[in-house]
Amino acid sequence: MQKSKILNFILGIIILVFLFLGRGSETPAEGLKRIFGKTAQPDTSKMIYNKQSQGVKNLVFPEPAMVIGSYDSVGQPNIMTAAWFGVACSRPFKVSVSLRPATYSYHGITANMAFTVNVPDASLISYVKFAGKYSGKDMNKFDETGLTPVKSEYVNAPYIKEFPIVMECKVTEYHDLGSHRQFIGEVVDAKIDERLLDEEGKVNMDLFNPVIYGQGKYYSGLDLIQNINEILPGENK
Ligand SMILES: Cc1cc2nc3c(=O)[nH]c(=O)nc-3n(C[C@H](O)[C@H](O)[C@H](O)COP(=O)(O)O)c2cc1C
Repeated sequence: MQKSKILNFILGIIILVFLFLGRGSETPAEGLKRIFGKTAQPDTSKMIYNKQSQGVKNLVFPEPAMVIGSYDSVGQPNIMTAAWFGVACSRPFKVSVSLRPATYSYHGITANMAFTVNVPDASLISYVKFAGKYSGKDMNKFDETGLTPVKSEYVNAPYIKEFPIVMECKVTEYHDLGSHRQFIGEVVDAKIDERLLDEEGKVNMDLFNPVIYGQGKYYSGLDLIQNINEILPGENK
């Protein structure tokens, strides 16, 4: 009796191990079935997939809202908001930002071949709006807002002390694309507030509430990123 209980127990463990291993080797189709089995199925019965042409229109959504720091030609620090920003290369790590010649920052970045990327969290949204509305031609935006400019360690551009994530960028090239000049910046240093690190000192973006922008509106990132984290086979966690 005792012996059969032990055998049953061992058999149970073996079955559990097989189930666990089986889940790890599921095919992409099985993975989709598992996920769509528990969440919404695409509803093909309704005509919700009819597309309407909007002509040439920016329908990229979401866009980032970064605050770009630079010095002008006489060393006054300036900031401006930029949504036309993206990661451009992994190695070396480069980002791109596209500015119009009408912005004051365009000229400061061209003169110094450097800028900083200041990543806001949702609590800093008023500063993002301010930096995107007024020009450094007319005012010192640091003086007006009370934000603190900090001289970068590695490039000739200021970063914003109160912003939780900053990247110092050296301009390696730029491209005049039409309305905008796309500056390619090699990130020579990235800094993050210690409060966004876990106990082991690793970056933990679960602690960060990003600003998301698109179609003229701002969103708090946390409102948008819930319940979309299902993992498919082969995906990096
Ligand atoms: C959310 C947002 C995104 C913006 N993105 C860009 C951009 O990518 N490129 C650009 O040239 N201007 C962009 N602007 C406009 C500039 O931030 C704005 O013209 C600013 O006043 C320029 O500042 P400056 O003259 O001190 O450089 C954006 C404005 C906002 C509010």
